[in-house]
Amino acid sequence: MTSTPTDVRRRSDTASTVGTSVERVDGLSKVTGEARYSYEIPSKGVRYGWIVGSTIASGRITAIDDSATLADPEVLAVIDHRSAPRLRAVGDTELEILQSDAVRFHGQVIAIVVATSPEAAREGAEQLQVSYEQRPHSVVLDPDGPTVYTPEWVNGLNERAVTEFGEIDKELSEAAVSIDSAYTTPPHHTSPMEPHATMARWDGDDLLLHNSDQAPYVTTTILAPLLGLAPEHIRVVTEHIGGGFGSKFTPRAVPVAATLAAKVVGAPVKIALTRQQMFSLACHRTETQQRVQLGADIDGRLRALVHTASQYTSQSFEFVENTATSSRMLYSAVARRTHHTVGRLDVPTPGPVRTPGHAVGLFALETAMDELALALELDPVELRLRNIPERDPDTGEAWSSHGLAECLRLGARTFGWGDRDPRIGTRRRGRWLLGTGMASSTHPDYTFPAVATVRVEEDGSVVAKVAGADIGTGARTALTQLTAEEFGLPLSQVTVLLGDSTYGEAPPAGGSAGTSSWTWPIITAARELTAQLDRAHGVVPRGGLEVTANSADALAKRTTLSRHTFGAQFAEVAVDIDSGEVRVERLHGTFAAGRIINTRTTRSQFMGGMIMGVGMALHEAGHLDPEFGDFVNHDLASYHVPAHADVRDVWADWIDEVDEGLNPAGVKGVGEVGITGTAAAIGNAVHHATGVRLRNLPFTIEGVR
Ligand code: MOS
Repeated sequence: MTSTPTDVRRRSDTASTVGTSVERVDGLSKVTGEARYSYEIPSKGVRYGWIVGSTIASGRITAIDDSATLADPEVLAVIDHRSAPRLRAVGDTELEILQSDAVRFHGQVIAIVVATSPEAAREGAEQLQVSYEQRPHSVVLDPDGPTVYTPEWVNGLNERAVTEFGEIDKELSEAAVSIDSAYTTPPHHTSPMEPHATMARWDGDDLLLHNSDQAPYVTTTILAPLLGLAPEHIRVVTEHIGGGFGSKFTPRAVPVAATLAAKVVGAPVKIALTRQQMFSLACHRTETQQRVQLGADIDGRLRALVHTASQYTSQSFEFVENTATSSRMLYSAVARRTHHTVGRLDVPTPGPVRTPGHAVGLFALETAMDELALALELDPVELRLRNIPERDPDTGEAWSSHGLAECLRLGARTFGWGDRDPRIGTRRRGRWLLGTGMASSTHPDYTFPAVATVRVEEDGSVVAKVAGADIGTGARTALTQLTAEEFGLPLSQVTVLLGDSTYGEAPPAGGSAGTSSWTWPIITAARELTAQLDRAHGVVPRGGLEVTANSADALAKRTTLSRHTFGAQFAEVAVDIDSGEVRVERLHGTFAAGRIINTRTTRSQFMGGMIMGVGMALHEAGHLDPEFGDFVNHDLASYHVPAHADVRDVWADWIDEVDEGLNPAGVKGVGEVGITGTAAAIGNAVHHATGVRLRNLPFTIEGVR
């Protein structure tokens, strides 16, 4: 094919869309149903798997009678621990499904029924007769229980479970004012709109997974040792995802089940979880029991900050919620201690859920700060301003940028905090007591190595490939904008392809690290390409021009700095004087998140996080029943999340923040910070309205009255 040489060097006539409101590039395909999700990918000869979950929480399987199931001619196979292909041990029995008769939690995968239709598979699963030898189980967190220990690490990056700095006891005893409070947060579930779903297809020794996945590349590296395959024999494709919330951060039982089933029946197999199965086979957030001790001088400067957290993990895998890690860096204190303990219970493995650690940890810390402000008779915003550290108090590193003070000031002004009467329980509108409260927000800014390939076609259009995933956040759109900006092209000339592990190493859509990580090699490749094109006087050679870049080296050379997103949240609540019902009338967040690529999707991320914070404050609680040994409210009818009527006036804005110490795009994560601090701001507002101090999530009417 011949084409007119295209000068792609200078398109300064095309203004960058960065910093403006851009509709999602995949929005139309999603709302029209053209976008396909993993379970919808057509495949010739596909079979359907159904997962059978254990009905006991601890013990072993003594017998499985599959005669009734197999009597149905539509049923092709029943796969259980006696017949399943062997997996390698990887230290996570939640992934090592069907390898023994042991049952470690209620709902554990104990069999897969494969049939020619999902209905037949489900029917067959219901007919399976399973006998057990049941052992006593425990799903009740007792911080002093026999299985409780102090782990070495918490979830996160080289984050120790225990930190101690300075003379805590001395500083606490010398403090003019101190508080010592206990807080609890219940289990939280993920349950994104699209459940866990996989289609697995074997081609000889090559495995293809269409998997609903936050991390297509990472999944290959986790499944490879489990399956005894080289990672390059596994391809994970995940073009569109209907949410993850952390549950698809790493592969769980479903892709493994589909892989085994496809092997056994010699055909592609699809498996999706039901909504109810999501509550045991997708991950959830552990319950936490926390204690915060604060000691301050009379002027409000913190002398001591102690934050301890007890939580649980499963018998299958050690996952430790990083509950107290933001207490290490948010405020300066002369002495500081954080301590996590964890107990093994007969529960499904908890995992990363919508801002692991910081969401629940900041509920405790930011409520404690409000209690301290009251004890000091100091404005809560002012108390925080007086404790902003010069450097990261935990690592001693300089901040890449620190927008908290500006967020507190701007947020307070926007919200109208200045007119606030600090007296408790004095404002009333009819039957509603009114109050306002605030809290700080923060989340670490992670950037991980990634590989991207960028190609300039002969017609001057650009295609960028990176093995990231857009879980609905708008990441694909932000990457398209940033790529277009590099080339000076309109968005219509740029295509960003995500969700294919063969594009190379890339971190998950998680930890609020996606855009900063994936964009780095794209920008590096784009700059190399534009330099090459400049040397060629803008002429694209026949066949196009392609560069693959890896950000690992540049990332390793990045200056050591402490990188965090910050924010300030302000809430106004109304509390019914009789019932104790809490309504969040107004929620305003101001954030410092580096360069904002897309005002529309960024605001949506902040507001989405804040609404999850409303859910944390008012609705969400998984109830582990001691007898049953599992969550009794395992669907979205009984596990409550905010509905439209609960989300009234929610708005987010941000400060202009330029931070050169981050990544070539200058971006910080925006996905998770919005949830942090929200529940505390709401609880602090309830206290202002009523004088009732809420330390246990969620704030149900029993707690408020
Ligand atoms: Mo998220 S909980 O960082 O996947």
